Amino acid sequence: MDRIKITGGQRLNGTIPISGAKNAALPLMIAALLTPDRLTLKNVPNLADVMNLGRILRNHGVDFSIAGKRPGQAEMQGETFHLTARDIVDTTAPYEMVSKMRASFWVLGPLLARCHEARVSLPGGCAIGTRPVDLHLDGLRALGAQIDLEDGYVVAKAPGGLTGGHIIFPKVSVGATHNVLMAAVLAKGETLIENAAREPEIGDVANCLVKMGAKIDGINTATLRIEGVPYLEGAVHTVLPDRIETGTYAMAVAATGGEVLLEGARADLLEEALDVLEKAGVSIERTNHGIKVAKNGQDLQPVDVETRPYPGFPTDLQAQLMALMTRVPGRSRIRETIFENRFMHVQELARLGAKISLEGDTATITGVPQLRGAQVMATDLRASASLVIGGLMAQGDTIINRVYHLDRGFERLEQKLERCGAQITRLSE
Ligand code: UD1
Repeated sequence: MDRIKITGGQRLNGTIPISGAKNAALPLMIAALLTPDRLTLKNVPNLADVMNLGRILRNHGVDFSIAGKRPGQAEMQGETFHLTARDIVDTTAPYEMVSKMRASFWVLGPLLARCHEARVSLPGGCAIGTRPVDLHLDGLRALGAQIDLEDGYVVAKAPGGLTGGHIIFPKVSVGATHNVLMAAVLAKGETLIENAAREPEIGDVANCLVKMGAKIDGINTATLRIEGVPYLEGAVHTVLPDRIETGTYAMAVAATGGEVLLEGARADLLEEALDVLEKAGVSIERTNHGIKVAKNGQDLQPVDVETRPYPGFPTDLQAQLMALMTRVPGRSRIRETIFENRFMHVQELARLGAKISLEGDTATITGVPQLRGAQVMATDLRASASLVIGGLMAQGDTIINRVYHLDRGFERLEQKLERCGAQITRLSE
């Protein structure tokens, strides 16, 4: 199993290209199930989760190929995927595949919409809470699906096809919004989704669906109105930049000091997180090419932050912000309101010498003057990124075990950081 070794204490200076967003690329790939025509996706990040989903889609009969990069542009362009679901040959998504990645559960809505049946294993994904799927199932039931649970599988049927419905989500869910939206575009009649998640990745998928011929009003708002169409066609779409990767590197620079241009990043996708960093004393400059992040000299100020659905502070940046605050003088407070068990990084950061106390959903971080390198273990995707930030700040060597978590969601992380002066290497075994 690969490990990452970081020798801390180097400032970061230079340019980091921001990849396409994992959390948009995955549902965009799934949207290919909705049409027999070709869907071309540009700027897809090369990640373990993306390749894993590719395998799942192939199993359903999707013809999937990755086009070559243009010479000289390999670093920046991401990859171009061509996906064609001419015939869906299998409407089952098996346990061995879905258990590796939660987002693959989102094939349920599109399969049901196009084939009127689907059998999808209950999902896996990062162990950050109970992560139920009741909202997905209730939403699809509102579109006329009959749903049973059999031997760990969701078995869904809509014999005459799905019909439009009215869904008021009792809680904001990114996945349930994706699932129901992708089902509703091919349902008969009008669907109204209220209290929809507004994460930019949902807007990106909705915009792609519109290019494919879907009729969706209210994109990027909490109320989506969808007029079902009988058929969607192919399209070409470019995946939007990854706001979580952007925020992670911004926090890494804030942690080590230095100045880095996050090339291709879009500030409008993470204003709340940038605002938190600016208030803490990090310099953020929004440019036409991306976001310039700088931290020189003076200590940062502690923060008091709660994670919230978009446009609030993202839960996917909570662990990274916590790592940053471990060395900020004074007391910071971070409250996690989205997932009930998303504090596994706390004990790992403690190995580096961080002082963090937990009470219910709230972590209190008391800044210490220095962290010291140690052996730590990556426990989930975003927590792993927090350990990288911890390692970059710590004196001496930090070894991060189980880096396959990082490979699921961060493209070429070591390379991007190394180019900016970090001492970071992958130890392959
Ligand atoms: C997505 C993101 C993940 C991010 C999360 C919250 C992807 C691939 N993953 O995950 O990175 O951390 O949004 O921004 O885009 N819930 C229910 N019932 C359900 C569904 C969810 O109770 O049927 C709860 C969850 O347990 C959680 C909350 O709703 O407490 C939010 O979860 P949700 O937005 O659905 O997260 P994911 O879509 O799994």
